Amino acid sequence: IDELLAEGVAGKRVFVRADLNVPLENGGDTVKIADDGRIRAVLPTVKALADAGAKVVVASHLGRPKGAPDPAFSLAPAASRLGELLGAPVAFATDTVGESAKSAVAGLADGGVAVVENLRFNAGETSKDDAERGEFADRLAELADVYVGDGFGAVHRKHASVFDLPARLPHAAGYLIATEVGVLKKLTEDVERPYVVALGGSKVSDKLAVIDQLLGKADRLLIGGGMVFTFLKAKGYEVGASLLQEDQIPVVQEYIERAEKTGVELVLPVDVLTSTGFPDLKTKAPAHPNTVAADAIPGDELGLDIGPETRKLYASKLADAATVFWNGPMGVFEHPDYAEGTKAVAQALVDSPAFTVVGGGDSAAAVRLLGFDENAFGHISTGGGASLEYLEGKTLPGLAALEG
Ligand code: 3PG
Repeated sequence: IDELLAEGVAGKRVFVRADLNVPLENGGDTVKIADDGRIRAVLPTVKALADAGAKVVVASHLGRPKGAPDPAFSLAPAASRLGELLGAPVAFATDTVGESAKSAVAGLADGGVAVVENLRFNAGETSKDDAERGEFADRLAELADVYVGDGFGAVHRKHASVFDLPARLPHAAGYLIATEVGVLKKLTEDVERPYVVALGGSKVSDKLAVIDQLLGKADRLLIGGGMVFTFLKAKGYEVGASLLQEDQIPVVQEYIERAEKTGVELVLPVDVLTSTGFPDLKTKAPAHPNTVAADAIPGDELGLDIGPETRKLYASKLADAATVFWNGPMGVFEHPDYAEGTKAVAQALVDSPAFTVVGGGDSAAAVRLLGFDENAFGHISTGGGASLEYLEGKTLPGLAALEG
């Protein structure tokens, strides 16, 4: 983007593909943004372009609407938050490439900013059919003279605005993508050791490829979240009614064996918090969890967080790290009774002198929602799937397109 700015963008229409896919809270008539981290993350790029006199057209997806307009997934709240953060008016188009978008863009003064409606209200955005995606990319291209890719959270998606559009316009990476890639490169290419990784989240199937890679890279791997029960089961423990992916047990068993062979320390919980049911996340009514040993989960109970001994254990395993990567909550942190595990890992990162990277929409939102100061971490990534796929060593369509 610096090159682009040096060449001059005054009066040019610059399309910024951002990731404004923020968590929304429904408060009756009003929709509130639960965490605006992703909007703040794209500000440097939008500001720099606007200050240089560009006509900035910001586009993003939000949620997973089914290729047609759906008010529940409107970008309008994100657009108004962007305006607040910029301290400048932001025009909002109620469609993505239609009359509203065209007139919003035509009405932009130099240095003005417009947001167009959710890209995924258009079937072409996510289509698997190259021609259909291409057609939509052609329509997006009509809105701009230059493309800036800055939606790091979506670079792993082969979508029209991420992959096809940059091929149709002069293009550059924005500041957010440059920062994110710089940090992840450090983790993959010249990581300082000990390199400790804490992985949580609910489904082990989402994390298999990254665990596979990390077994050859990390010195220590701490496991938490719903996926931990597949590990405990693979070790031969009974996990009661806990979340379990039966079909993944053999893969996990192979990982446990490989970790032993290669000397990667694979750390599992020694105790867990359990209950007979899932907690009420709306009322947050007290859930009265039980603390049980990880190998003694009662048959009718399910594990919902790591236990107090495990919190201490994980904190000690993070204390001597030189580099930490953390992805995925340790428990159902949205309920206060099951937030302690996630808090303990976040606190261990805050206390650590290591270079700490928090990856993932959920964990990034978790640290902010739990009240941690984001400046206390080395880097909080805006990408969940994107940062994991980068660490897996995959080619990410949105990054490849910017290089082309
Ligand atoms: C994310 O939240 O990880 C990104 O915004 C991508 O969203 P998606 O998984 O719906 O493509």
